[in-house]
Amino acid sequence: MKIKNIVLIGFMGSGKSFVSNKLGAVLNRPVISTDKWIEKRAERTIPEIFQDSGEAYFRRLERQAIEEIALKEGIVIDCGGGVVLNQRNLEDLKKTGILFYLEASADFLFKNIQRGEHRPLMDVSDPLSKIKELLKIREPFYQQADYLIDADYKTIDEITASILKVIIDERN
Ligand code: S3P
Repeated sequence: MKIKNIVLIGFMGSGKSFVSNKLGAVLNRPVISTDKWIEKRAERTIPEIFQDSGEAYFRRLERQAIEEIALKEGIVIDCGGGVVLNQRNLEDLKKTGILFYLEASADFLFKNIQRGEHRPLMDVSDPLSKIKELLKIREPFYQQADYLIDADYKTIDEITASILKVIIDERN
């Protein structure tokens, strides 16, 4: 029997990368970040790809990454926040994995994004409004996850525990 992947989706700053690494360590599973995968293949950072080739090009690289990564089994997949924008990505990920949406408020995401790495989509004069605008567009896609996990003002340990609980309950 194939072991399903654990797939984390959600907006930038929701904690996907930290939680993925934690889950990987606890469950002893390999962790693949779509962003890191793309950076390695392109031999450029995400901001460089956006700057030199644009978002549409980045989305094509992201699509290729999902096509390959979703074929794997028994791993944890840390998806870039915009992976869900392509319905085929969602379909591929669902075939081999259980999808968890780390749901959080715009305020919380804003705080985390400010502290985190450089995100090209946040290079705007009013990032909080941009987050709200993008969340509105993306919410219906994120909601297609198998499970919604409350990540709002939660610690990495709390989010990880919520996901582990679902996984354990599914086994029983
Ligand atoms: C993006 C999210 C980023 C990265 C890129 C675009 C998005 O990943 O893929 O900057 O469209 O939401 P994180 O969600 O890991 O920050």
